[in-house]
Amino acid sequence: MNQSTRDGFTSNFGVLVATLGSAVGLGNIWKFPYLTGANGGAGFLLVYLLATLLVGLPLLMVETTLGRAARANAVTTFERIAPPNQRGWKIIGWMGFTAALLIMAFYTSVAGWVFAYIFKAFSGEIATTDPKIAGSAFGKLVSNPVSSLLWQWLVLALTGSIIMLGVSKGIEAVARKLMPLLFGLLLILCVRSLTLPGATEGLKFLFSPDFAKITPEVILTALGLAFFKLSIGMGCMLTYGSYFRAEQNIPATTTRVMFADLSVSLLAGIAIFPAVFAFGFAPAAGPSLVFMTIPAVFTSMPGGSLFMTIFFVLTAVASIGAMLSLLEVPVAVLTERYKLSRKRASLMTIGTILLLGVPAALSQSITAELKIFGMNPFDLFDFLSSNVLLPLGGILICLFVGWVYGLPQLEEQLGNRGKLGNEKLVQLVFVLVRFVAPLSIAIVLLHGLKII
Ligand code: TRP
Repeated sequence: MNQSTRDGFTSNFGVLVATLGSAVGLGNIWKFPYLTGANGGAGFLLVYLLATLLVGLPLLMVETTLGRAARANAVTTFERIAPPNQRGWKIIGWMGFTAALLIMAFYTSVAGWVFAYIFKAFSGEIATTDPKIAGSAFGKLVSNPVSSLLWQWLVLALTGSIIMLGVSKGIEAVARKLMPLLFGLLLILCVRSLTLPGATEGLKFLFSPDFAKITPEVILTALGLAFFKLSIGMGCMLTYGSYFRAEQNIPATTTRVMFADLSVSLLAGIAIFPAVFAFGFAPAAGPSLVFMTIPAVFTSMPGGSLFMTIFFVLTAVASIGAMLSLLEVPVAVLTERYKLSRKRASLMTIGTILLLGVPAALSQSITAELKIFGMNPFDLFDFLSSNVLLPLGGILICLFVGWVYGLPQLEEQLGNRGKLGNEKLVQLVFVLVRFVAPLSIAIVLLHGLKII
């Protein structure tokens, strides 16, 4: 594709919200609280923070940098910037292509639950603070094969039609409008949850660590979440980086994205855990946690149904931004490498996810007993992507940048050819991606998967 006609983000703010739109999603509002709850609370949070700072942020910087340097999709980027005899690095792009499809298969089914909850909130059907009633309302939705599939398909149709509009008119335009609203609503929720009787126990759970609960599996899960949260390890941020403006200050932008993303996760945690303890929900409830707790917080406040409806609308919106970034990975590969039209590439991608998504969406009903490695398809796709493909992709990207791409080129790219005067920072990032990140990811991966 001709460089000058390549679509891209149009302003500093546009880059920031679109990148943030990819990072913020169900990972913050659904996954972060339930994994924190299931893995013992504050200890997990601490490991997650470390992983985000030492591994996540440096990787986010180098991934976006590679994309901007090559101005190409996840596969072609490595072909362009690897030395001629080392084109094999493009395997990273193909792993990302696969991971995007796997993640979308289960992500769309959770997004489907969120969409369904918009209507349930509006009708007052889920207005309850009773864990039993809340649990059965959720169970009824997810165990119904027909509605699970229909909601998932609706999500796919919606995101598919936005992705066809392109990068600036589709992705960027949607992100600009709705990110600020989400922050506002989360703040209201936190205030409400914190003023519930018994709220302090929830805060204790979230902020005072019990180190006995940190096992190798817990560490791998925290690392996987850090990858998932920042959309790194599979070329998604690389693809977005290829749409960055030439003068974008990448270290500043990515640091802002990381902090904003972290704040949304923490706000979601602060909204949920006080209520979990105040109303007697189980913190380790798993994927249903948010769907039961959030209604309970709202039900006990005036105007609850309205706020509850807005909350699920915004969560749906946040999930759309994230899904667009996942779709963009295969769509960019298909349009740029195989010269497919954007429309055709989008349809092929959506079609593949539709097929993969069926077993994932039916994991609480028809395919619940279809166990591979002891997991149903939903859990398997989640595990394979977050805990295997993303960390593996992360190691490879670090090794590529640290040992092949090298410091001089990284300095030139991350420093905008000397204009930013940030050599010290780039050197630190370089040491992190050359040694610290790949080693720690490898150790965590091997222990977490019980290979050593
Ligand atoms: N970060 C998104 C979230 O938290 C999910 C996501 C978008 C993602 N793009 C990704 C996860 C790429 C891994 C890789 O909801």
